[in-house]
Amino acid sequence: MSTYRIGVVGLGQRIAHVLAAMKEVGWNLDVVAHVDPAPVGAPILGVAGIPAGRPCADIPDLLRQGPFDLLMLGAPNHLHFEHLIQALDVGVPIFAEKPIVRTEDETEALARRLARAGTPPVFVGLVMRSLPIVREVLARVDRGELGEVVSIDATEHLPPEHGGYLARNWRRKQAWGGSYFLDKVVHDFDIFGRIVGARPERVASFGGRRIFTPERADRPRTWEDGSAAYALRDAGWAGANDAFQSDMDVTDHQVAMVEYANDVRLSFHANSHTALTERRWYVAGTEGTLIADLVRNKLMVRRALFRGKPEKIEYGGVTADAHNGADQAMALDLLAALEGRAAFPVTPYDSLEAGLTVMAIDRAMDDRQILECGPMWARFDAARGRV
Ligand SMILES: NC(=O)c1ccc[n+]([C@@H]2O[C@H](COP(=O)([O-])OP(=O)(O)OC[C@H]3O[C@@H](n4cnc5c(N)ncnc54)[C@H](O)[C@@H]3O)[C@@H](O)[C@H]2O)c1
Repeated sequence: MSTYRIGVVGLGQRIAHVLAAMKEVGWNLDVVAHVDPAPVGAPILGVAGIPAGRPCADIPDLLRQGPFDLLMLGAPNHLHFEHLIQALDVGVPIFAEKPIVRTEDETEALARRLARAGTPPVFVGLVMRSLPIVREVLARVDRGELGEVVSIDATEHLPPEHGGYLARNWRRKQAWGGSYFLDKVVHDFDIFGRIVGARPERVASFGGRRIFTPERADRPRTWEDGSAAYALRDAGWAGANDAFQSDMDVTDHQVAMVEYANDVRLSFHANSHTALTERRWYVAGTEGTLIADLVRNKLMVRRALFRGKPEKIEYGGVTADAHNGADQAMALDLLAALEGRAAFPVTPYDSLEAGLTVMAIDRAMDDRQILECGPMWARFDAARGRV
């Protein structure tokens, strides 16, 4: 395998973890240069034994250190569009973190740019697509084991430390992160779209901030053993000191309902401060039901007219970061795609659709209305040149 010459824009925790996973699964890689005013991921790269390469002031400066085999983009979400537009002109493959972009306008502009001839491949870090448990869910749905999918109930409930980190990190601001849902559960809505096989027709959502508020700032801040709570990790780029007294303007809990164009109905519940964590998809079909427990990495399936025990598959490999080996699996998928051995499991258009789905949900919440998605999809298809 040749050595991949890599340029990084946004050397945060995420790109550092992905690079570490790439090295772990056998990539030969050389991080030639990076652009980042204060690389939060540098210590993670250090632990992985990967030199961070030459620091550069901006993307043109980075490109002078080329040629590159891969550009990796991992800055906060509000910078994705501008970095992608510059990187696409270079003409080498791009790995870009999710959400691919942050707004509907950026989505349409990027769709227009991607439709141009000669565009290099873009691999988006919707890492759940690479997880063995998720692949199994999709394979079973595709084989028709559940019959026709009728309805889905799903959750993502985070532990308090994770919610506290989101409330201090740049993700707390719409201007940087987009929204709680866009940053945190665009993964899930990408998979739901793939399971359902249709686009959302209408969406509704309610959410707000009732946890990380100044009114709750004097609540106890210690765990039962006396250790400090809400102190997980340095909050990093543009971080705030205190989870309860920051300028946060995204939700800390939210629910959503989606009706897809093929009459599949879905409900979703997310909370960023729970004592019983969960990321669970309950998929009910005409012939069978499936529960994917993404926290414990367990799958349970049973046919509708079967009274015996359900089939249970434990994937093991549960890790503290809750990614459960997904980064390593994605690193292998990325290598296979670059070497032309297999298609990457998710396309940039899938990523844009998942993003738009979540943006529609957020708009419905803000407007307190059921949002009809048809006009949004028409604009997207027009931008893609698919009218
Ligand atoms: N796929 C996943 O599972 C997953 C997990 C975590 C994060 N992410 C995504 O990865 C991205 C980064 O998240 P993170 O957790 O690493 O955040 P982070 O705060 O750890 O890192 C962001 C980095 O971007 C840098 N940065 C800020 N402005 C910049 C600029 N103008 N140019 C270049 N770099 C700049 C910051 O200094 C920081 O080092 C986000 O888009 C996030 O949504 C994806």
